[in-house]
Amino acid sequence: MIDATPHDGTGVPAGLVPAPRRLAPAGTLTLHAGTGIDEGPGTARTARWLRGALGAATGFPLDPAREGDRITLRVVPALETEAGGPEAYRLRHGDGGTVIEGASPAGVFWGAQTFRQLLGADAFRRAPLARRDAWVYPAAAVEDAPRFRWRGLMLDVARHFMPKDGVLRYLDLMAAHKLNVFHFHLTDDQGWRVEIERYPRLTEVASWRSRTKFGHRASPLWDDRPHGGFYTRDDIREIVAYAAERHITVVPEIDVPGHSQAAIAAYPELGNTDVVDTAALSVWDNWGISANVLAPTEDVLRFYEGVFEEVLELFPADAAEFSPFVHIGGDECRKEQWTESVTAKTRIADLGLADEDALQSWFIKHFDRWFAARGRRLIGWDEILEGGLAPGAAVASWRGYGGGIAAARAGHDVVMCPEQYVYLDHRQAPGEDEPVPISHVRTLEDVYRFEPVPEALTEAEARHVLGTQGNVWTEVMEDAGRVDYQTFPRLAALAEVAWSELPAPAARDFADFERRMSEHYRRLDALGVAYRPPAGPHPWQRRPGVLGRPKDGPPPNR
Ligand code: ACM
Repeated sequence: MIDATPHDGTGVPAGLVPAPRRLAPAGTLTLHAGTGIDEGPGTARTARWLRGALGAATGFPLDPAREGDRITLRVVPALETEAGGPEAYRLRHGDGGTVIEGASPAGVFWGAQTFRQLLGADAFRRAPLARRDAWVYPAAAVEDAPRFRWRGLMLDVARHFMPKDGVLRYLDLMAAHKLNVFHFHLTDDQGWRVEIERYPRLTEVASWRSRTKFGHRASPLWDDRPHGGFYTRDDIREIVAYAAERHITVVPEIDVPGHSQAAIAAYPELGNTDVVDTAALSVWDNWGISANVLAPTEDVLRFYEGVFEEVLELFPADAAEFSPFVHIGGDECRKEQWTESVTAKTRIADLGLADEDALQSWFIKHFDRWFAARGRRLIGWDEILEGGLAPGAAVASWRGYGGGIAAARAGHDVVMCPEQYVYLDHRQAPGEDEPVPISHVRTLEDVYRFEPVPEALTEAEARHVLGTQGNVWTEVMEDAGRVDYQTFPRLAALAEVAWSELPAPAARDFADFERRMSEHYRRLDALGVAYRPPAGPHPWQRRPGVLGRPKDGPPPNR
């Protein structure tokens, strides 16, 4: 145990975000051209990252095996029990430099993230501002471990495509906040973003649309430029590897059986052809929930097995805990076409099912078994509870806590991401200046006071809450600047909720968080993040005249 006091919400040096469990100031140290990195077994990824990130910011080579001061990286398995789990880490400083020890390679990496924060905001730049012989930093003994194992960000690249460079940048931003699960929402009514070799029309046809509604669907405005893009198989491999270098797992989402109009536009036979002329469909150019859903046929199951065979290859399960997961969506599947379709009705009768909800459940359960047979795990939005939950499935609880509570009570793992708290597309302040305001106001403080584990759960049930994630839906985010604005600074609050041992929501010291954020904004500036400033948007961040859909009052809890 280091000589450190429990974090009491005050006086965290250098405004560390997320706040560590314990720390004690320990004088000052310097980083200079002769500082070397001494990497122990299992720490190669962190050493590469440190050399890349800090080498760029300081101009120092950070070579291995230098004489003199060192940054020592070590995996110390005993820390797992001593310091709070497999991702625990410890930072110590002495005459010879800084020692970063982790219970695992990931723990060492999170320790390196804290170390960069200690060096100051300029350590987040990609080149030195001026020649400096030494960087003096406040040394601090830190002992830290995350509260939750699943600390995520979901990014919707279907509604608006984010080119690959932007995705890699978001992985860097996640790493800087100790987030470790990137939920990659790759398909929706408005676009299909992943190359599937055996179905080329998914990228030739489904990856772009000829125009796009600008603003909420009630807006009269259109952007008449074609919009689209997709990740090649090698792009995906690069993204997955880049994430793994940062101890982040990518969980891909292929949304079925709803949110599938883009796929149906490419392959009309996937739709309910006895109800609509699916050959006349195009990739949707408007927002909302399309009625064009997949047909519940064996041919459609076979088609998506083909898709998932390639998805499993592109997103392999490895040693990382959450790498077996594949997200299958399952949300908001409108049932009108199934109600009308003779094919769907016959299917319901043949399978002896009660109704359309049970048909959706049959569809999801098929893939639950299919994934399980391949050593993988299914996760879906909480609608997958309707009509009976597939045996091995985990649930992303978005419509409130209710789905997560029901799932945890039934022994299923849960990611708590209720829209009432962590939908980062929702507006973050009242008033006319918020760009394209959507839904209820969810301020930075609201996110900071979000509690992922509802009181209704017993201790044993609560152990099924793997963690939480922020969800970024991009209907009204036409570029990376808009994504930054909606995501930051609230993702920093979500990161602290996911990582730090915070008291009950009402007792959380938001003033202390804001104090630390004043330092953190300087880091975000250095990283080039177009966050929402505390006083409101810059003029160029506003979207005057673009209709949103604000809702009054606090969001109703479900
Ligand atoms: C969702 O927001 N439809 C998961």
